[in-house]
Amino acid sequence: MSGDVIICNCNEVYKSEIVKAIKEQGCKTVEQIGDATGAGTICGGCVDDIQEILDSEINK
Ligand code: FES
Repeated sequence: MSGDVIICNCNEVYKSEIVKAIKEQGCKTVEQIGDATGAGTICGGCVDDIQEILDSEINK
């Protein structure tokens, strides 16, 4: 995944916002991302994508 793409359609959360929450707020779980950005808190359909971003950012 590259560039800034929308990850969570329900809350219009972009990948860059999720990456920022991981880097600046130290989020490590989907739940923490939800608290920080709102992503994944409505339909849950983007949770797998959030997890994928977490995995790739944390293992950098
Ligand atoms: S698309 Fe993210 S909660 Fe629905």
